[in-house]
Amino acid sequence: MAFDRSIKIAPSILSADFANFGAEIRAIESQGADWVHVDVMDGHFVPNLTFGPPAVKAFRPHVKTVMDVHLMIAPVDPYIDAYADAGADILTAHIEAGPHIHRTLQAIRGAGMKAGVALNPGTPAETVEHLLDLTDLVCVMTVNPGFGGQKYIDMTAKVRKLRDMIGDRPIHIEIDGGMDPTTAPLMAAAGADVLVAGSAVFRGGSVDAADVYGDNIAAIRAAATAAI
Ligand code: DX5
Ligand code: ZN
Repeated sequence: MAFDRSIKIAPSILSADFANFGAEIRAIESQGADWVHVDVMDGHFVPNLTFGPPAVKAFRPHVKTVMDVHLMIAPVDPYIDAYADAGADILTAHIEAGPHIHRTLQAIRGAGMKAGVALNPGTPAETVEHLLDLTDLVCVMTVNPGFGGQKYIDMTAKVRKLRDMIGDRPIHIEIDGGMDPTTAPLMAAAGADVLVAGSAVFRGGSVDAADVYGDNIAAIRAAATAAI
């Protein structure tokens, strides 16, 4: 996984058909997805429950690009090895999920994965200032985590601040929540390079009408790329 700051679209399979994950993953990748975003929720850190390590492991053979696993769980540390075994390329933990995020990021890298840290909308950019040398990705939530299809919360100032803090370090800025062709350009212009999109990618399509996914991905990418 060579680092680059070009715009990447990461469809969230939270908006896919839960009875058909393998085909859904193959469909979005064949239609131009750069990464596959996998939302793990525990019904405790967030008020919704999705799937755990065995399901993520079952997704792995279908993912030819990058499996980007977003943990919305607390605690994180007892599960890190299970997600490494499941084949996550990037494992992202929330800074709000426990008292020892520094230890968590070290453990994620120690298990052979790229380490991401996610920030809820109410959490300031400065909280990651002393973590940047341990971090491969900062995920800025533009909704309160837990559900797809929520309204975008503007985080332009936070993303600009992070972009300045990161400088030329090889750290991705990922945006998660409410990304569509109208909101993605704001975040791309502020310095984000990975755009997660669930409902705006899967809306109107299916594995039998996968070209709709392709059109949706292309529309987000075109709008974002035009803004930088
Ligand atoms: C929200 C998840 C997101 C979500 C985005 O808790 O982390 O990845 O699927 O969905 P949309 O793009 O519909 O806001
Ligand atoms: Zn997510």
